[in-house]
Amino acid sequence: MRTSHKEQALLIQHARQAQRSAYASYSNFHVGAAVMTDEGEIFDGCNIENSSYSLTICAERTAVFKAVSAGKKKFRSIAITSDDQGFITPCGACRQVLSEFSPHMEIILTAASGKKKITTLDKLFPTPPDLKKLSRHSSKKNSKK
Ligand code: THU
Repeated sequence: MRTSHKEQALLIQHARQAQRSAYASYSNFHVGAAVMTDEGEIFDGCNIENSSYSLTICAERTAVFKAVSAGKKKFRSIAITSDDQGFITPCGACRQVLSEFSPHMEIILTAASGKKKITTLDKLFPTPPDLKKLSRHSSKKNSKK
């Protein structure tokens, strides 16, 4: 199910609110995200950086992990906000994580100017790893035991 204009506006509002909590001491780049579950529930997140740089987590994954840890695994859409004048798109790691749960979800990109652009995860991440192959592999391994 796609999100209505009203739901998109609500998601953007939640992402902007979460952006205020961004911990971006190193990049000073504040990002917010908000996912909407299939049932219409919203979970938000911000980027959280670390002095050991590689431990940084993006806003998108924070939002998804909050939702998954609350038992929600099916998402309709995600909105992403930042202070950038252009549209920022999710990094490769976030695309992979989003795809694990909802490969066809809608992605609402925003610019600080207030503009928005709607796309889908299957456009941004068209060839995710074939999970069916993975499960075939693990059942082969288990049958040897
Ligand atoms: N960042 C996000 O949170 N989401 C994105 O889509 C792009 C990048 C964060 C990670 C890091 O804290 C900062 O922005 C600079 O890359």
